[in-house]
Amino acid sequence: DNPALIDRFGRIARDLRVSLTDRCNLRCTYCMPAEGLDWMPGGEMLDEDELSRLIRISVETLGITNVRFTGGEPTLRKGIEKIISATAALSPRPRISMTTNGIGLVRRAKSLVDAGLDRINVSLDTLRPERFMEITRRDRLSDVLDGLAAARDAGLTPVKVNAVLLPGINDDEAASLLRYCVDHGYHLRFIEQMPLDPQHGWKRTQMITAERILEMLREEFELTESPSPRGAAPAERWLVDGGPAEVGVIASVTRPFCGDCDRTRLTADGALRSCLFSQSETDLRAPLRAGADDAEIADLWRATMWAKLAGHQINDAGFAQPLRPMSAIGG
Ligand code: GTP
Ligand code: 5AD
Ligand code: SF4
Repeated sequence: DNPALIDRFGRIARDLRVSLTDRCNLRCTYCMPAEGLDWMPGGEMLDEDELSRLIRISVETLGITNVRFTGGEPTLRKGIEKIISATAALSPRPRISMTTNGIGLVRRAKSLVDAGLDRINVSLDTLRPERFMEITRRDRLSDVLDGLAAARDAGLTPVKVNAVLLPGINDDEAASLLRYCVDHGYHLRFIEQMPLDPQHGWKRTQMITAERILEMLREEFELTESPSPRGAAPAERWLVDGGPAEVGVIASVTRPFCGDCDRTRLTADGALRSCLFSQSETDLRAPLRAGADDAEIADLWRATMWAKLAGHQINDAGFAQPLRPMSAIGG
């Protein structure tokens, strides 16, 4: 009996990403339409006890060592502190992180840390208030910047910043975003845009590639390959002007990193996904609500991961987007 979430290619999942809600308080144009999406009905979402139980099984039985909470926007989820503290009480205690738009952090950073949150990644695509409004359709830039500082001051370090560059919108900000993050002690990563938007607007030719991003950064900074090992992390990293500051690029499309993937994903309505781009899911909510015991849930989880494909197929002919948009998978 193998405790590990291993797949046919020998990869072992140790990193669980849990989406706590598909809702968000921003409306980034590349992620959702202005009116939002058809949100998950409350009754279809796992409650705190169900979530905590699945996380417990993943840690105690299946070898998960890192749990990341995502959304939508995870801070919109009522009871997130309780879910985090239940996770922090597990043995062995997993490392706990969150991916957020940062708006809730001024008010919440301290209570999240008290609950057991270790680390945070915050999305920030621009430093200009009018552009922030154009991209996110909300006038909240200062909340995000204040939230970043609050997270750092609360000890959620290293604070990471995720930025997506959009052609003709914010692609002139690569260097200024990096300058800001270096000056404030945040670790910036640029993300290549992936075909995960519900509007199906992604176009390969419109994407700002890793190569282009590095070229723009090198006009203002000296970048040298980071000496620390990458492991299964999505980001390739460079030292900025000799270090210790670093910048990362998550080149999912032009330099896929699926061969080292260590991730398994759970959606807010209890679907397991072996990959961000999975076309099929395993429903854990039905067996959970029908009284399945821990061993049955663990078996379903192992079987799902065993069936994981070698990688996403973004670069293959006939690629089809997953049925769920990014905001309902959790990135
Ligand atoms: P750490 O490196 O542990 O800080 O986290 P992370 O970079 O894995 O998490 P985060 O939620 O900040 O993700 C940043 C970007 O990487 C998002 O756009 C994610 O969708 C993307 N990403 C994360 N994991 C994967 C993955 O397994 N595959 C692909 N293609 N993209 C991923
Ligand atoms: N491709 C790449 N990154 C995306 N994000 C949202 N949608 C996409 C996409 N289609 C980013 C957000 C956030 C991170 C978690 O994922 O901007 O920074
Ligand atoms: Fe892993 Fe799928 Fe992401 Fe590739 S696309 S790194 S296999 S989750």
